[in-house]
Amino acid sequence: MEDNRGMFVPDHIFTLLVVDDDPLFQRMIKTIFSEDHYIIHKAESGEEAILLMTKIKIDAAIIDLNLPGIDGMKLLKIIKPIYPDIMIIMLTGQGNIQLAVEAVKAGVVDFLQKPFPQEELRIRIDKLYQMWLLKEENTQLKSVLKFDYEALVGNSVPMLELKKLIARVGPTNTSILIQGDTGTGKELVAKAVHYHSQRRNKPFVVVDCAAISSTVIESELFGHVRGSFTGAIDSVKGLIRSADGGTLFFDEIGELDLAVQAKLLRVLQEREVRPLGSPRTFPINVRILAATNRNLRIEVEQGRFREDLFYRIQVLTIEVPPLRSRKADIAMLAEYILKKNGSTRQEGGNIASETLTILTEYNWPGNVRELENILICVVSLGKNGLLLPEDLPPLYSSVRSDSGSEISNEVSESGSLADYEKNAIINALNLFNGNRRKTAEKLNIGEATLYRKIKKYEITGI
Ligand SMILES: Nc1ncnc2c1ncn2[C@@H]1O[C@H](COP(=O)(O)OP(=O)(O)OP(=O)(O)O)[C@@H](O)[C@H]1O
Ligand SMILES: [Mg+2]
Repeated sequence: MEDNRGMFVPDHIFTLLVVDDDPLFQRMIKTIFSEDHYIIHKAESGEEAILLMTKIKIDAAIIDLNLPGIDGMKLLKIIKPIYPDIMIIMLTGQGNIQLAVEAVKAGVVDFLQKPFPQEELRIRIDKLYQMWLLKEENTQLKSVLKFDYEALVGNSVPMLELKKLIARVGPTNTSILIQGDTGTGKELVAKAVHYHSQRRNKPFVVVDCAAISSTVIESELFGHVRGSFTGAIDSVKGLIRSADGGTLFFDEIGELDLAVQAKLLRVLQEREVRPLGSPRTFPINVRILAATNRNLRIEVEQGRFREDLFYRIQVLTIEVPPLRSRKADIAMLAEYILKKNGSTRQEGGNIASETLTILTEYNWPGNVRELENILICVVSLGKNGLLLPEDLPPLYSSVRSDSGSEISNEVSESGSLADYEKNAIINALNLFNGNRRKTAEKLNIGEATLYRKIKKYEITGI
């Protein structure tokens, strides 16, 4: 985002649209501006300009007031509400001051009266470019601050590398596959990529491939029109179209069944989507991110995942490191989690150093999510004050000093981990008198997950 002298470098080239039916003016623009700093598109009518804007991201436009068809003022009033960020210079004829004032009120940043010397136009556009740079720098700074310092906690070397990679690939439009063990923060990484991109002010839509049942997934993804099947009472836009302009994140993409994979591939190739039962298609503009804790290459080899889809989503891979390989982050994460979940609790935010030692020695097969669950449960059990080793469930205090081994033998203890999870759910349910929503919120899991776990552990009567 910065060059080596510390100057801001925007993440895309300034794109200017010139809307004027005068070929002389179009030629003049071409001669003044080299395409090193600007990309210039031209449109000879308002209609052509509108069409172009649906296909290309425009940063600024020069619009002539006198256009064939829709005039410049009408065009301005149509596009401004849809694309409020486009900076516009209006060109007016002599004696059109009244209209120029109206244009300023409608949101143009500048206007120029014809005829004008070439030099004047160059100065105005340079000014526009500088304004745009400032605006871009501001939005990028905001998103970096938001993500580097608040959401993605951790300053260990692997974490810093990860953040650097996100900052580098975020602004591109590349499809990325995010791989990592369960609970490592894949979804958080996907959000960080989105917030480091041009699309940050557009939707970030999650498709939870593991949670959506196979009977409804097509209509959830592609949408449907009213009456297209029994029960389709209203038309539904579908997740793909609702992410338009933004990022579409396929969580647990390895869970998609092969038939849906084929349809998704088509959508990504054609860049358009046809809702179920609809005669027409809709163009889409989405960036694809996907996450999985399976090894997709093996899934491909074993015929469970389409190779062509794999290559389409895996242009780039981000590996999210497991917590056991970045133990330096544990203290910071624990502090962050306690602070986030105990807003009014002054006394509960502290961790005794012996406790921290235990937490650091443990190998965390469930990664950050496991750490989060343990700390939240300890807090929700009402054990306030300094967090002592005896406050932790026995599993944690008994696993000592095997931290050097790559993967510890927690697997054999997964029974007790499950017991602990079950108890934590029972306790939290009791705490909230069985209120599912509050319990799920407190445990930091989705309500659907809570229901699943209640069923799995056969918890009844609360
Ligand atoms: N670096 C981090 N800083 C702060 N919180 C984190 C970090 N990494 C993960 N978390 C938190 O841990 C929880 C799990 O993260 P997330 O859901 O992104 O994991 P995941 O890799 O998608 O897991 P799964 O494979 O199980 O879906 C979330 O509540 C998330 O906010
Ligand atoms: Mg996830």
